[in-house]
Amino acid sequence: MIENELFDVLREHGQEHIIEAYKKLDETGKEKLAAQVEKIDWSIVEKACNFKAGHEEFAQERGKLEPLSALEVSEIEKNKAKYEKIGLDAIMAGKVGAVLLAGGQGTRLGSDGPKGKYNIGLTKDVYIFERLIRNLQDVTDKAGCFVPLYVMTSDKNNDETIAFFEEKNYFGYPKDFVKFFKQEMAPSVDFNGKLYMEAVDSLSLSPNGNGGWFYSMAVTGVLEDVKARGVEWLNIFAVDNVLQRIADPVFVGATLDSGCVSGAKVVRKAEPMEKIGVLCLEDGRPSIVEYYEMTEEIIHSREANGDLSYNFGVILNYLFRVDQLEKIMNEKMPVHVVEKKIPYINDNGEVIKPETPNGYKFELLVLDMIYLFENCLSYEVVRDYEFAPIKNKTGVDSVESARALLQKNGVEL
Ligand code: UTP
Repeated sequence: MIENELFDVLREHGQEHIIEAYKKLDETGKEKLAAQVEKIDWSIVEKACNFKAGHEEFAQERGKLEPLSALEVSEIEKNKAKYEKIGLDAIMAGKVGAVLLAGGQGTRLGSDGPKGKYNIGLTKDVYIFERLIRNLQDVTDKAGCFVPLYVMTSDKNNDETIAFFEEKNYFGYPKDFVKFFKQEMAPSVDFNGKLYMEAVDSLSLSPNGNGGWFYSMAVTGVLEDVKARGVEWLNIFAVDNVLQRIADPVFVGATLDSGCVSGAKVVRKAEPMEKIGVLCLEDGRPSIVEYYEMTEEIIHSREANGDLSYNFGVILNYLFRVDQLEKIMNEKMPVHVVEKKIPYINDNGEVIKPETPNGYKFELLVLDMIYLFENCLSYEVVRDYEFAPIKNKTGVDSVESARALLQKNGVEL
């Protein structure tokens, strides 16, 4: 983009302060900043100007919502041997890969660096990444073969993540089966929609949410590896659930057996108001409704047997068919505007790390992907065996609560 065009674009969007910053830079700095500005999707930045404070995120217009029944634990238990065989056969045929979403910044946990490096051990070192690899090894030991693992990082934590896996010798997992790829970054703005800068020659960029993972696999070339290996299904999972089963053969088998093109692990809601996204149908398609979007009816309505109609919440563990992912890859997904604490440089060039939220970040969320699939198997798991997310240091979904659940499941810490 030539300089005049760059200035026009910035003026048009009320970002004159970036022009002033640009003018002070040398050629290298100018090129860097211009390249960042060129990548901005202004339609997203404009959302921030219309955003009403007080809402955690933008609520979308919803279609007609209806409950979606789940394959419940009792039914899964009855068919466990059958599902497990189907799943193990697929794994042994090399058709299943796993994608670890580890590009987030873990701000609630408040630890600098990759969340997976966090040590949750009590009497010995137990890192989150290590715990996840052990969970995967439960499956690969049983299958007698390895499952390719793709790890999504971001510019903020990629080098540190790779260095950690190297230092720990991939926790005994074969390096050839682990590939890292970086997600896209998005700009951050203040409450008036003005772009923040994090250095004299750089906008404040942060990872663009966990919803762009497949697009990032494609643009970074990692998808080539998926195809070269003949992987047909990808199991997506979050870094912070230390109890989750990865490439779980029973889940894989049940999804294949159902004929669905995607599957989602769900847990029974602990109580109607629980802050968890619920898997349901929207205009006949699978869809996830976040807790803050739920109407009173969705929260409280019950079936004839007394169960909540919208009874199953997602735990960020999905199975997607690769050919379907390719079909939907370029579909527009909703952008969520999230209030966050955004480090920035002030007019004197000093780096400020705010104590309270000072602006918005823009994120795509993997939960919005579900709606792009024709169908999805809702697959119930027992919370105490498979759901121990680490979001906070203490309290709900914390290091403390996850430790207790790990110990309950016989994991030594
Ligand atoms: P969270 O929504 O918990 O976000 O991510 P976070 O960034 O880890 O934590 P907070 O909100 O700042 O405290 C759920 C999963 O999605 C991944 C995270 O690494 C985690 O596995 N994620 C999130 C990404 O891979 N990229 C992102 O941009 C955001």
